[in-house]
Amino acid sequence: MSSGDKLVLVTGGAGYIGSVLVEQLLDGGWSVRTIDKLMFGGDALSSYLSRPGFEFVEGDICNADDLRLALEGADAVVHLAAIVGDPACKKYPELAVKTNKNGSELLCEMAVQAGVNRFIFASTCSNYGAMLQPDGYVDETSPLSPVSLYAELKVNFEKHLLQPNRDDFATVCLRFATAHGLSPRPRFDLTVNEFTRDLVLGKELEIYGEQFWRPYCHTTDLARAAVLALEADATKVAGKAFNVGDTAENYQKKTLVELILERLPQMREKVRYVERSEDPRNYRVNFDRINSELRFKAKKTVADGISEYILAIQSGQIKNPEDRRYTNL
Ligand SMILES: NC(=O)c1ccc[n+]([C@@H]2O[C@H](COP(=O)([O-])OP(=O)(O)OC[C@H]3O[C@@H](n4cnc5c(N)ncnc54)[C@H](O)[C@@H]3O)[C@@H](O)[C@H]2O)c1
Repeated sequence: MSSGDKLVLVTGGAGYIGSVLVEQLLDGGWSVRTIDKLMFGGDALSSYLSRPGFEFVEGDICNADDLRLALEGADAVVHLAAIVGDPACKKYPELAVKTNKNGSELLCEMAVQAGVNRFIFASTCSNYGAMLQPDGYVDETSPLSPVSLYAELKVNFEKHLLQPNRDDFATVCLRFATAHGLSPRPRFDLTVNEFTRDLVLGKELEIYGEQFWRPYCHTTDLARAAVLALEADATKVAGKAFNVGDTAENYQKKTLVELILERLPQMREKVRYVERSEDPRNYRVNFDRINSELRFKAKKTVADGISEYILAIQSGQIKNPEDRRYTNL
């Protein structure tokens, strides 16, 4: 599918990844409509409002009337709107089920009725849960063992979406690594960004599970993968799941902290490692499929994301990094 005169609906376009994606799509010649209920405000979209080809629907993906309006004339959907993250889903379980399951299923059903040809879903590498072999890697063929409501809902919607795959409705699941990096809507409840902010502000940093592995990917790379999945030949992507990230960008938390301290060495005494067994997620992910099949390679590293945030906070570009709008909790 190519941009041409095509209209893509981005759900959750005012969010951390969505607001980066909207810009890339507009730059690439797509007409973009986004539906968002603005849980964290709409500032992230303000610079797009005057751009030709951009439309905004303030609405809820759980509401059929809002969806009808949002889907009218759409050729494709990139579905990002959700209650995002394990802590938020644990705190608001009913809203998480309503949004991530019921809202997503309604969107999918109405997208088919509206004649949408491609449906891309933002899933997560959290679907893999804890690794069976601590020294190994998981890939798209590995079993999914979600250990949180958030991941369980993602796994369920993946199944819902990939099963009825049809020639005229190509569905794709993108299992995003944990995001880092700048966005018009910064998020400081994500590991790299949170650790960087806290050390820039000179706060004490308590780290647990420092040996656990997780994959990370920059917002601009995640968004670029969504554009690739949108523009790829349907035969390459339909009915498939792709991990999105880079195999070289799996890190243990301790290494992340060292990368930050290389840039802020005076903060070393602020870091303390503690024993806690709260977060059972431990996974190292292989990203060969997206690399070989869609020629995707991450352009930015975690070190780039750290440097960006240090500069953005120290220069005052992000004025109040502790603003509640910048966290999903
Ligand atoms: N950020 C990550 O590290 C990460 C990793 C893996 C997967 N993902 C997935 O990527 C997607 C985007 O994540 P993000 O970090 O940008 O999250 P975000 O919380 O910043 O953005 C989500 C957006 O969805 C909107 N929204 C929520 N419920 C809605 C509803 N019912 N109707 C309309 N809009 C609604 C919110 O207002 C918000 O703007 C999510 O689906 C998330 O699960 C994110």
